[in-house]
Amino acid sequence: TQVEKGGYKHFMAKEIAEQPGVLADALNHYLASDDSGLALPAEVDFTGVDRVTLVACGTAFLACQVAKYWFEQIAGLPVDVDIASEFRYRDPVLSPKSWALFVSQSGETADTLAALRHVQGKVAKVVSVVNVPTSSIARESDLALPTLAGVEVGVASTKAFTCQLTLLALLALKAAADRGRLSPEALAARLAALRNLPGVMNHALQMGDDVARIAGQLAEAQDILFLGRGQMFPLALEGALKLKEISYIHAEGYASGELKHGPIALIDSHVPVIVMAPRDALFDKTVSNMQEVMARHGQVLLISDARGVHEAGDGIWASLTLPEVDPMLAPILYAIPAQLLAYHTAIAKGTDVDQPRNLAKSVTVE
Ligand code: G6P
Repeated sequence: TQVEKGGYKHFMAKEIAEQPGVLADALNHYLASDDSGLALPAEVDFTGVDRVTLVACGTAFLACQVAKYWFEQIAGLPVDVDIASEFRYRDPVLSPKSWALFVSQSGETADTLAALRHVQGKVAKVVSVVNVPTSSIARESDLALPTLAGVEVGVASTKAFTCQLTLLALLALKAAADRGRLSPEALAARLAALRNLPGVMNHALQMGDDVARIAGQLAEAQDILFLGRGQMFPLALEGALKLKEISYIHAEGYASGELKHGPIALIDSHVPVIVMAPRDALFDKTVSNMQEVMARHGQVLLISDARGVHEAGDGIWASLTLPEVDPMLAPILYAIPAQLLAYHTAIAKGTDVDQPRNLAKSVTVE
């Protein structure tokens, strides 16, 4: 297996490092070779679709939560997002003109498969975004779109997540174009930014040493909070999920603005608060939430771009600086520090990164 790990200590490290490569492969597959536009299958036509229901579990569910922001903000298309194990039992109201989209790395998650069977015949199209193209979920959907991340072995999902996000971003852009919400020029600009993303990710992967130093200190914590606003809120959830999965440190993700409605009661000098906030239109609001944390002696780790880190000023405990990208793509890029923080914290604690206790790569029971 040392060979399979390609010289890395763990599959997770290898899979984190593979992301620029697999992302470039996925883009080559789904973008026209001359970059003139999207190359999605012809059935991906959102004309007349009135709603999209996104259903998944775990990390794939968090990819769906990011996609909700994209579909609604860029395409003006209403989206519901559900955890698969909840979906069937809440008697969802489904429009016959809607699409249901199931996202799964393995394509075998029992709850997601049951949710898929529940919508069959009730919606216009059942689409899946899956990493294993021969899986049950892929086979039982009307249209299966492979994420092309390659085999993922580490139990904690990494490269499958960023490939899911990339494909969902392309679908949201297609919806926007089909609905007349995106000029050809605006689409071209977004696709060019996507083409640059693998290179930008490579850059982000270089910060492993900085992350390892910070993780050494995070490993001492009992509780860690992740905060994010807007499309970075699901990334805060993903940061917390990754960290608890493999380091066993209690971590929670919160919407920045929700801090004052509960979790602020936990803040003292022993609680690191990780803020994921590119310098976007919501940045100033998140900075004021960060100041509320610092006023209570919370240790803030700010993950932002150079402008954001500069504008945040003094008083933060540590920062990680990422390149600036098209705001839409920030969730894909910010997955890298979330993964690296979890990985290095687990290393510092000496836990089993690839096979965390009590967890399975694919959960085929309900
Ligand atoms: C398990 C894995 C997670 C994964 C989730 C959903 O809990 O440990 O990493 O996100 O299942 O799996 P799926 O294969 O449906 O994406």
